[in-house]
Amino acid sequence: MTDAVTRAFEALEANRRAMMVMSLPELFGEDPRRFERFSLKLGPLLMDFSKTRVATSTMRLLVDLAKAAGVEEKRDAMFAGERINVTENRAVLHVALRNLSGAPMMCDGRDVMPEVAAERERCFAFAEAVRTGALRGATGKRFTTIVNIGIGGSDLGPAMAAEALSPYIRRGLSVRFVSNVDGAHIADTLRGLDPARTLFVVVSKTFTTVETMTNAQTARNWVAQALGEDAVGAHFAAVSTNLAAVNAFGIAEAAMFRFWDWVGGRYSVWSAVGLSLMIAVGPRHFTAFLAGAERVDQHFRTAPLKRNMPVIMGLLGLWHRNVWSYASHAVLPYDQRLARLPAHLQQLDMESLGKGVTMEGKAVTRPTGPIIWGEPGTNGQHAFFQLLHQGTEIVPCDFLVAASPHERGRRHHDLLIANCLAQSKAMMKGRSFEEARDQLIARGMSRAEAERLAPHRVFPGDRPSTTFLYRKLDPATLGMIVALYEHKVFVMAAVLGINAFDQWGVELGKELATVLEPLVAGPGGAEEGLDSSTAGLLAQLRKLRV
Ligand code: F6P
Repeated sequence: MTDAVTRAFEALEANRRAMMVMSLPELFGEDPRRFERFSLKLGPLLMDFSKTRVATSTMRLLVDLAKAAGVEEKRDAMFAGERINVTENRAVLHVALRNLSGAPMMCDGRDVMPEVAAERERCFAFAEAVRTGALRGATGKRFTTIVNIGIGGSDLGPAMAAEALSPYIRRGLSVRFVSNVDGAHIADTLRGLDPARTLFVVVSKTFTTVETMTNAQTARNWVAQALGEDAVGAHFAAVSTNLAAVNAFGIAEAAMFRFWDWVGGRYSVWSAVGLSLMIAVGPRHFTAFLAGAERVDQHFRTAPLKRNMPVIMGLLGLWHRNVWSYASHAVLPYDQRLARLPAHLQQLDMESLGKGVTMEGKAVTRPTGPIIWGEPGTNGQHAFFQLLHQGTEIVPCDFLVAASPHERGRRHHDLLIANCLAQSKAMMKGRSFEEARDQLIARGMSRAEAERLAPHRVFPGDRPSTTFLYRKLDPATLGMIVALYEHKVFVMAAVLGINAFDQWGVELGKELATVLEPLVAGPGGAEEGLDSSTAGLLAQLRKLRV
């Protein structure tokens, strides 16, 4: 971390101390224009961050922090195709995948746009053929179910988006996602499916990930058993960067769709990795999804920092994590179809920001990414919101809600919005002891009893939240939401000086699992050298196994 960044953080810490004398309700009370001052609009989407504890001075200092850290230069380096993923020596160009303008985007001195566009066209043609029935299974039946097999970035993005865009899925088609190596996942997914009408899309950047390859093999056996070995080819497509491994699995090149090493797994939904989604919603809606993201990219590249939505999201993330020391961040979609958004953002944010060393390999001097978690409202209200309102941990929250639903009839949606607004208001405003007590007395309770119960009904308030309000959860809006969070993470990593695009932290567990698998499968007796916990668990496992 450079001296300039350290100084910018120190100025923010001083600002926090100054801010502590004012509560959020007081900030609202003293400034009737607080909402206008601390909200941003981008097309059909509004971001209201007035319920976070910031003042104009805070925002100025946050922008100074971004400048001190060279966020703009780092952003431009990403768009210019520089190898900013220094530990894997790769460019980071997922933004090229949604560059519908076709304007050149360079990587290693070459414009990648022609091959991006060509591969997208191949995917679209394949998707259309499945949708129209031009492409059928081995027995001549139309495909009715697409099963996506992948994990991490090869699962979460498309799975999240397919659920979010379910109103756009073609009638008669359904899409399912298998990720876990737990055999229960594929067994439950395949139950009731007709092999003759099922198309598998195996998605793996490396085509070596053990979960995906194991599930793909099980699926292959399932097809072969039902329809014969010769039928297999007609029921599989692959998405990967590893042609040799795809061929070795028995999937022909014509049914393989590729992407590039400059697309990180958690940033890959925009590529052929979105093939299942393309089949489900069709090329037109998938293009709208890309267009939403492209809109955010253009804004991220050109809007001044103080009006730049993903920059402000990232800076608020740093304000909460690094200046106020809040350890976690909740994503609370008041939108049932965004149920998998928290899981997608968990990977995006925690695999990107969960780092302990800087780009130069030195230990970081400030905390890095927060713990991301969440569930849709209103369900969460009846589960963990208790802690959000009265617990001792303060958790900054993102609320997301659409102005209009896809469904007819307004009652459900009016209730949904009212609840969403009520929660952020309650977090901000809280309820004092006196208010709680007087409310009880007004309901007829004695003063003594009211004073006994009131402490339990006090809400401290002052809990920060940001609300994203959008017209409707359509493909373009979903594209905007996902791209906003991607760039938010970029901004946080840029300021913290860490690499947001590698994930070495997943390796050790994978290596150890490879060593342990033969011990789990074997007859025992080969445990010497293991720690006593692992050895003890293996011994007990043998006793318990049926
Ligand atoms: O969990 C680590 C990881 O490498 C993710 O980053 C990636 O999205 C996932 O595994 C799947 O990898 P692949 O697409 O190569 O199967």
